[in-house]
Amino acid sequence: MMKTLSTLQSAKHYIKQAIQEQSHPIAIDATLGNGYDTIFLAQEVGAQGLVFGFDIQSLAIEKTSQRLQQKGVLERATLFHAGHECWEAFIPHKYKNQINAVMFNLGYLPHGDETIITRPATTLQAMRYACQWLAPRGIITIALYVGHEGGKDEVDHVISLASKLPSNQFQVTWTQTLNRSSAPSLIVIEKIK
Ligand SMILES: C[S@@+](CC[C@H](N)C(=O)[O-])C[C@H]1O[C@@H](n2cnc3c(N)ncnc32)[C@H](O)[C@@H]1O
Repeated sequence: MMKTLSTLQSAKHYIKQAIQEQSHPIAIDATLGNGYDTIFLAQEVGAQGLVFGFDIQSLAIEKTSQRLQQKGVLERATLFHAGHECWEAFIPHKYKNQINAVMFNLGYLPHGDETIITRPATTLQAMRYACQWLAPRGIITIALYVGHEGGKDEVDHVISLASKLPSNQFQVTWTQTLNRSSAPSLIVIEKIK
């Protein structure tokens, strides 16, 4: 059995650490998709926590709501049928500097319309909000994909922004598979203070 963690397992590992010591954790799923990450976040934040989520596709909102309902954690989540770049218009401002975890899973909705993808301009805007609103010791994970058209360009933009974050405020790592060029990679941003 493989001893290394997959991109998603690594992302969850870091998110768990950011959430587990909080009494009222707040997490954001920036790309709801099929709702798997939202379920993970809703279960991790617990009954005292909150999850906010964004997606531009109504199908993603429906699928995620259904899954949350099935798992009995729907009341912990607020889902917005909107782009994550509209963060400031949707997330209550009292949560500024209090967001403990943000997950981005970029690209297209698996088993959905593969032409609807995350795009550099909107992804970068949402990343900026996430960095601004993150609590101290909060974590942002960004799963990046290069296999679809536009993927490599988005990765380049995301890496460019992430690598310019001030090192006295953020620790930024990028984990990638070296011997499979199409493999996803993971950026983890931690707010130091
Ligand atoms: C790879 S999927 C997400 C997978 C998901 N986290 C899961 O657990 O199934 C990417 C999603 O990003 C969504 N998306 C694209 N542009 C977006 C935007 N500007 N804001 C929010 N979501 C967006 C797509 O509609 C798609 O559902």
